[in-house]
Amino acid sequence: MLKEKTILLGVTGGIAAYKAVELLRLYVKAGAEVFVVMTKGACEFVTPLTFQTLSGNPVHTELFNLYQEREIGHISLADRADLVVVAPATANIIGKVAGGLADDLLSTTLMATKAPVLFVPAMNVNMYENPLYQANQKKLEEFGYHFVEPVTGYLACGWEGKGKMPEPLAVFEETLRLLSPQDLSGETVLVTAGPTREELDPVRYLSNYSSGKMGYAIARAARQRGARVILVSGPTALPVPCGVEVVQVVSARQMREAVMERLAKATVVVKAAAVADYRPAERSEQKIKKGQEAELGLTLEKTTDILAELGQCKTTQLLVGFAAETTDLVENARKKLETKNLDLIVANDVSRSDAGFDVDTNAVRLLYRDGSSEELPLLSKDEVAQQLLDRIVRLRCTTA
Ligand code: PMT
Repeated sequence: MLKEKTILLGVTGGIAAYKAVELLRLYVKAGAEVFVVMTKGACEFVTPLTFQTLSGNPVHTELFNLYQEREIGHISLADRADLVVVAPATANIIGKVAGGLADDLLSTTLMATKAPVLFVPAMNVNMYENPLYQANQKKLEEFGYHFVEPVTGYLACGWEGKGKMPEPLAVFEETLRLLSPQDLSGETVLVTAGPTREELDPVRYLSNYSSGKMGYAIARAARQRGARVILVSGPTALPVPCGVEVVQVVSARQMREAVMERLAKATVVVKAAAVADYRPAERSEQKIKKGQEAELGLTLEKTTDILAELGQCKTTQLLVGFAAETTDLVENARKKLETKNLDLIVANDVSRSDAGFDVDTNAVRLLYRDGSSEELPLLSKDEVAQQLLDRIVRLRCTTA
């Protein structure tokens, strides 16, 4: 996701410096080249050796170190970055930059760079709420600097309140957004994900193996590319993606209601959820007891096909469906594309062990209304999401 991107990670002196280690790991795993600059204060919390080992690059700490300057130089550091991330960012570094000061390697590099800068503030709640700090942040935002808001919780100083550095994954996602083309800006993408559960009694339900990974990957990728994203999610164990409006539902009936209520706002709908086709015709109010099996015949009734209903009532929305198949992939998917009045369908061979339900990879074929189709190779679900959004952007351009 970050191949060929260079990130300069500035680490300043706060207890959250340990979270910068995990953030660095995420950047490196995503393929970025990362250079780390640490302030003197940061070195009190985590050693440069940790960052050096994980980044595979020398860590820079001093402005007037002849060896470090000859190796790379602060201007070169400032020039080669696609993005500068300061995490954690203390009130001190934010105050310095807001005041136009450049008296150490990090503040000098921040002054010299033309790359976008993302600050991840972390500090005591009273410092964060101090009007001086707030004025500095506001000033920097007006100059085009980006911020990830701190979260509320117990702070290392013993206080409780806003000031905690968000989890590294949230900062990573914001980084992806800043480095992505904003080709979905202005779009509202409604995504469904995960399974539905159809209750039999208070302790049992019918469901399927959907983990939500595919739908969540689409929601994250659409948000990175500038869309407003509404994610209607069945029960999953996945973290809520940052910056995405999430509507939690359980049953097919609830999913239908949630989708229909929000349809008018959407310009693109992607239905990756594995919605139950059937539910128990009757739900027992009490737990069905052992010994009742003899009289237990399970009668099922059909749920509403939400996608088919969307196909009937859509106006200008681009409608994308998925088809989970174990046989006759293309024929079955094409039938769904036509009968449900879709613009595009993602045919998913769920009989493969490396594709479909629960795994991190997927192998899909994209089928279009004009009869054409294209096969994507086995990719991570994040990559499938990006490729699918490329096609959606293209279709939106041709239909707009
Ligand atoms: O969640 P993961 O573990 O990452 O797995 C991903 C996935 C396999 C669930 C996903 O890639 C996928 O294929 N989703 C569609 C699953 C499905 O229900 O397929 P289907 O062929 O039964 O349904 C066709 C389409 O109609 C789907 O877009 C589905 O959301 C929709 N549908 C189905 C039934 C129903 N009552 N209402 C619907 O809207």
